[in-house]
Amino acid sequence: MKFSQSAALAFAATALAAPSPTTKEQPRQAAGCASAVTLDASTNVWKKYTLHPNSFYRKEVEAAVEQISDSSLAAAAKKVADVGSFLWLDTIENIGKLEPALQDVPCNNILGLVIYDLPGRDCAAKASNGELKVGELSRYKTEYIDKVVSILKAHPNTAFALVIEPDSLPNLVTNSDLTTCQNSASGYREGVAYALKQLNLPNVVMYLDAGHGGWLGWDANLKPGAEELAKAYKAAGSPKQFRGIATNVAGWNQWDLSPGEFSKASDAKYNSCQNEKTYITTFGAALKSAGMPNHAIIDTGRNGVSGLRKEWGNWCNVNAPGFGQRPTSNTGAELADAFVWVKPGGESDGTSDTSAVRYDSFCGKEDAYKPSPEAGQWNQAYFEMLLKNAKPAF
Ligand code: BGC
Repeated sequence: MKFSQSAALAFAATALAAPSPTTKEQPRQAAGCASAVTLDASTNVWKKYTLHPNSFYRKEVEAAVEQISDSSLAAAAKKVADVGSFLWLDTIENIGKLEPALQDVPCNNILGLVIYDLPGRDCAAKASNGELKVGELSRYKTEYIDKVVSILKAHPNTAFALVIEPDSLPNLVTNSDLTTCQNSASGYREGVAYALKQLNLPNVVMYLDAGHGGWLGWDANLKPGAEELAKAYKAAGSPKQFRGIATNVAGWNQWDLSPGEFSKASDAKYNSCQNEKTYITTFGAALKSAGMPNHAIIDTGRNGVSGLRKEWGNWCNVNAPGFGQRPTSNTGAELADAFVWVKPGGESDGTSDTSAVRYDSFCGKEDAYKPSPEAGQWNQAYFEMLLKNAKPAF
């Protein structure tokens, strides 16, 4: 997503502005808590903390509301701004979003952040290829991770939940035939381990991305997948603040639909994880065997409608979706800490412009919505679709 530093500073200035004389009797809500936050990653922190509706998504949604002329739809759209969602730190420049975003986090809220800038990012696709090239691991460490760490350390009174590097390790498990993924592999492994080690701070709880049931849930992928993730966890020194995995990030899978969405596909017999609930249970057991904490958070931001994809692997701007379950820790499954919104609904998964450098053929598929802008950019029509099809409705 395009974001200018000056906009961040302008927003920070607004957020920090002194209270006007008329409001001086009511002191402003200070950011964070009165004292240092200590998150116990051996428990479900979502029972105590609510995912914060971050101010960046709020601004995107508010701008979207302005464009809606139908008043009842506009009123519904407004409510989306109050839903907690993760903030993606997808470039070094976008670390600039962090300080302004933590200014309004109350003590009972947790700010969700996506760590997403590995060298050679998105090795099996093009839509989200990142700014760092293969071989630029030292830049990832010093210019990206270390910078985020210093900001989180400077705000010990605020709670943070991190989703670490979507798609990276799952791609190493299933796309190792691609030269791009072979080239990215060592940087991903060392980079993820470095991130887990450095971000292991008392006010942080960490979840490592584990794809989804239609990815690592295949019988043949469960064990290698669990081992790949556990290797990173152990290489990081088994960090105390590590809680488990994030699944269905930017995904479309249903939580507990049974029989599952692709249970009639000819290859369904090779995948017992036909919904995310089964996936986190089955993959969770494999993680346990591999020696890794195995609790999960599940992205339910865009999975309100099922049966939209022609194939399980279709990931780009799937057409006619709806917002899904709102963030909650009431999941009904012991291993599932919370349903969360990780992908900000309305931001694109990738451009449908076939002439763009980051054009990926998945964004041109029959079941992909077109036209769509570059990954991370706002797509008003798509947002309105998510809203109209939301389940539960807004
Ligand atoms: C994009 C990021 C964006 C994120 C959230 C990813 O697909 O590559 O730039 O921040 O989605 O929308």
